[in-house]
Amino acid sequence: MITQIDLSGVAQYVSEQQLAQAVQAAQSKLAPVLAGQFAEANQLGWMDPARWQGHAEVEYIMQLAAEIRSNADVFVLIGVGGSNRGAQSVIETLGDGKVEIVYAGTNLSSHELKKILACLQGKRVYINNIAKDFNTLEPGIHFRFLRQYMEAAYGAGAAARIIVTGSAGTGQLQQLAQQAGYRFLPFPADMAGRFSVLSAVGFLPMAVAGVDIRRIIAGAAAAKAELLAAAPQDNPAVRYAVCRNLLFEKGFVIENLATLEPGLAYFARWWSQLFAESEGKNQSCIFPVFSSYSEDLHAVGQYIQDGKRMVLESFLDARFVNGETRVAASQHADGFDYLNGKPFDELIDAVYRAAFSAHSAGGVPCLQFRCGQITPELFGELFYFFMLSCCLSAALIGANPFGQNGVEAYKRSMYRLLGK
Ligand code: PA5
Repeated sequence: MITQIDLSGVAQYVSEQQLAQAVQAAQSKLAPVLAGQFAEANQLGWMDPARWQGHAEVEYIMQLAAEIRSNADVFVLIGVGGSNRGAQSVIETLGDGKVEIVYAGTNLSSHELKKILACLQGKRVYINNIAKDFNTLEPGIHFRFLRQYMEAAYGAGAAARIIVTGSAGTGQLQQLAQQAGYRFLPFPADMAGRFSVLSAVGFLPMAVAGVDIRRIIAGAAAAKAELLAAAPQDNPAVRYAVCRNLLFEKGFVIENLATLEPGLAYFARWWSQLFAESEGKNQSCIFPVFSSYSEDLHAVGQYIQDGKRMVLESFLDARFVNGETRVAASQHADGFDYLNGKPFDELIDAVYRAAFSAHSAGGVPCLQFRCGQITPELFGELFYFFMLSCCLSAALIGANPFGQNGVEAYKRSMYRLLGK
């Protein structure tokens, strides 16, 4: 693993001895997850990212992405939840900006829809609609508006600019693609939405943003090889899952994933959906939230420092190191001369260390994921690590990580209101 998990900041709440005992005691819950024998086989496709290495579908996606990068100014990703968050996290952190990525299908604001349609005017557009079930109203209705936009803009040429990623079957995207002549990518049947980032769902948008998806796959495959072979006591995914649940039992019922690179706030959104939808089922689990530092140190940082002692903090210490940028002296007195000549990277390092030590001293248990430089391999590793940890953590609290009936409840209620 590139990432090292550092639990020194929780030692006063959970000792190494307590952790080792808890890992031992939870063997019967953890072992089936590590052996891939804990749920229906059709939910476990994410456990084997190596299946994509050298796969023809990945080659096809890279060719398609190259075509889009040559022929589009804007790529509209229509999708919500598990259908867009993983890709967005990579794009917002590592994307090269050559093609503008616009996100649609996440809300029902007519104002936002108008803004999306307006920003396409005069630009060369491709669309990727992603949905496993294709019954969610937000992406479904945005897709209708955007298809109509494309038909008006490109006439018979519209279909060639629309790609759908979805399931097969009646009323699903494959059927629509066949009827309308769109290109189709399969949403793997053996992955739930929030576990689907390492598939066509994430791969096409990431590749359109200029990210080498083979490197993401390699990072995930390496993480799998290491994490599934490690002894439970030394397994970082096990240690994280067990540690966070021991902290929960001590009253730390909220986990705040803190990031430093602004793009990684989108990774933290993916993480928070992963844990919230997978574990949030039996009223006895951690509420996952996230903060983007420095910005949130000037907002929720106050609460973390001095508010109710119920927050545990996990620092995702992944950064872009750029040794070249230094603070230049200024001819105007601005009070910042003490920074003259300092490498800019020292500043982000200082904010990290300052937040960690202040929060620790203030009574917040602080875990650290020490990841180093942000690369595609790191993203692959982190996706795999957290999906596995999430299933381990769900097993500890007796929750089935797959399915999200609570979300379905709101959907059914909305369908009733709208007369479906
Ligand atoms: O993780 C999940 O399964 C969900 O969050 C789904 O991704 C989300 O509800 C969107 O589903 P769909 O793209 O099938 O409409």
